[in-house]
Amino acid sequence: MLLIINGPNLNRLGLREPGVYGLQTIEDLERQCETWGAELGEPVTCRQSNFEGQILEWVHEAQEQGFGGIVINPGALTHYSYALRDAIASQPLPVVEVHISNVDAREEFRHTSVTAAVCRGKISGLGFVGYRLAMEYLTELEG
Ligand code: DQA
Repeated sequence: MLLIINGPNLNRLGLREPGVYGLQTIEDLERQCETWGAELGEPVTCRQSNFEGQILEWVHEAQEQGFGGIVINPGALTHYSYALRDAIASQPLPVVEVHISNVDAREEFRHTSVTAAVCRGKISGLGFVGYRLAMEYLTELEG
């Protein structure tokens, strides 16, 4: 069972900077992840929040809630949230960081991820497909 977390402003997908993020909405993304989960035989729970503390608590509680891995798009928290980094490091589940856009091809401040080093890996720039690849990896790990 996988937990998919989308962070700040990702509820604005479809409306926000469509040239960067496309026209599909967070509902489209979450539906896709559920479909991919069904194909992989891996139930998924999708959550989105604009509140850092809420995201920290979801990460803290994921293992005791029975999840086997976390896919997280931390949005801009990626670039500065030491609290999120520490939350990921504080728990044992494998975490994969995903970005819809290619953060390394954008503004300088997006080139830094303070969270990636405590994740298993980072996928950036592949659109929604990045979530599927992260899910496949975590499903394989769960064996
Ligand atoms: C993002 C990239 C971040 O730099 C940005 O702040 C986001 C979305 C992405 O999915 O490409 O909110 O994480």
